[in-house]
Amino acid sequence: MTATNLENSVEVIRQRCPNAYPKVGLILGSGLGGLADMIENACVIPYADIPGFPLSNVSGHAGNLVIGNLGSAHVVAMQGRAHLYEGWSGQESTFPLRCMHALGINALIVSNASGGINPRFHSGQVVAIDNHIDWMHRTGILDAEAMSGPARHGLPNRLRIPYDISLLELAERLAMKLGFVLARGTYLATLGPNYETRAEYRMFAKLGADMVGMSTVPEVLVANQLGIPVLAFSIVTNVAKPDAPSVTEHTEVLDWSRRAQSQLIPLIEKILSHMN
Ligand code: HPA
Repeated sequence: MTATNLENSVEVIRQRCPNAYPKVGLILGSGLGGLADMIENACVIPYADIPGFPLSNVSGHAGNLVIGNLGSAHVVAMQGRAHLYEGWSGQESTFPLRCMHALGINALIVSNASGGINPRFHSGQVVAIDNHIDWMHRTGILDAEAMSGPARHGLPNRLRIPYDISLLELAERLAMKLGFVLARGTYLATLGPNYETRAEYRMFAKLGADMVGMSTVPEVLVANQLGIPVLAFSIVTNVAKPDAPSVTEHTEVLDWSRRAQSQLIPLIEKILSHMN
């Protein structure tokens, strides 16, 4: 990724959506794309029309950048994301986030679908991610140039707490007002695309993971490098029971994440109304 690429892509977005001055970025994963359909005065750009935007072939990911208003908040939403398991590099898959940053966002809300490892979680539960384990084992996600010099020493410190605690506490308070308890959990990201074997679920539980999925960590790393506070939600779509024979299906993942929208969409709307 070069600066010219980034400037060029942002220029294309601004030409298509001249009033795009979003303050909050939303990255909407499996099943949550419906939130982008609720954006008012929406300016919609298919990823295919923006140079450098990676395209996802995963079902449930529409592939549009949607800019407009959700309540009183001016947002830019990614309706679907590209995953590393589709063959995109860390730099390519996070390029849209760098564009959102260049458009002016000062907060990021991310959602994903995950397998529940913590036995207290149930399918369809919304969990706030308060920490993560990077099991993707990929370098090249962060901008290496920005890591030379003094910044190099600052980054690991910021990464000790990659999720913004005040946004997380705000989400917990507002979830209570909406009548549910928002659990917190550690998200472990694998490269995928396969779901886990029973032995792997057992191992990840021992490592301290509460959920496992195949996304989000690259974007969270880049957001931290760019200094953007992050709030991340995971929809638990299947509970990993290593000792009970069961098979995880993508249709099950989509089905549960759609059902969880009825909790997560009102919650995100409420959070946005408190962020201005
Ligand atoms: N494993 C990894 N990713 C997932 C899962 C899972 O069990 N469920 C939804 N995304």
